[in-house]
Amino acid sequence: MMKIIIVKDEKQGGQTAYTFFENELAKKSNVAFGLATGSTPLSTYRAIVASDLDFSNSVSVNLDEYVGLATDHPQSYNYYMQKNLFQFKPFKHSYLPNGQAVDEQSEIARYDALLAEHPLDLQLLGIGRNGHIGFNEPGTSFTLKTHKVELMASTIDANARFFKNKDEVPRYAYSMGIGSILKSKKIILEAFGAAKAQAVKDMLEGPVSEQCPASVLQKHPDVTVILDEAAAEKL
Ligand code: GLP
Repeated sequence: MMKIIIVKDEKQGGQTAYTFFENELAKKSNVAFGLATGSTPLSTYRAIVASDLDFSNSVSVNLDEYVGLATDHPQSYNYYMQKNLFQFKPFKHSYLPNGQAVDEQSEIARYDALLAEHPLDLQLLGIGRNGHIGFNEPGTSFTLKTHKVELMASTIDANARFFKNKDEVPRYAYSMGIGSILKSKKIILEAFGAAKAQAVKDMLEGPVSEQCPASVLQKHPDVTVILDEAAAEKL
């Protein structure tokens, strides 16, 4: 059973997610956190930045990165993490895929190896409007580990708001696979706003199907979903 917490707004959602980070660090100092990007986790990162949590013995592993973007490109997820979290809360090591890797197969192998070396204690997730997690689009096999993904037109449209225009949105990304995500001991997924309501309903009430990648979380033993009222409106 997935646990559901309904909050009044994103800020309260971020504070709720924050307590999961706090709890992990209360158990041990060397936690392996799986981190996410997008607009959804920003309130969580704000709550973490405002806290006295210390990540200097912990590692972070991010879900995904656009293929082709340099780490200092303002829309890269490397840049996002630096700007919103790492500059304020440094980790012992922070890992993201390298969007500019020359050899794609070795980049994928590198990411799988570091995930094997750092089994995740807590994975933070957002959800795409089509039910994607990380960049695992509908139709992605549930067993995949790290892989290169061709983004769907609807995802490119949804993310175009961050770029000058749609043509600048990368067509490909590296993403942890669903198989990698499911290995995390604990998972929290946040969704805010009415645009996520259908994906949230499909995730929680629909069949477990590759058509809604997030529905696979029904099979994980320790998932908490944090929703505002708009994201929960179709439940
Ligand atoms: C992006 C990311 C996901 C994120 C999702 C939702 O494409 N790869 O990790 O959860 O889409 O983004 P947002 O939080 O901005 O709605």
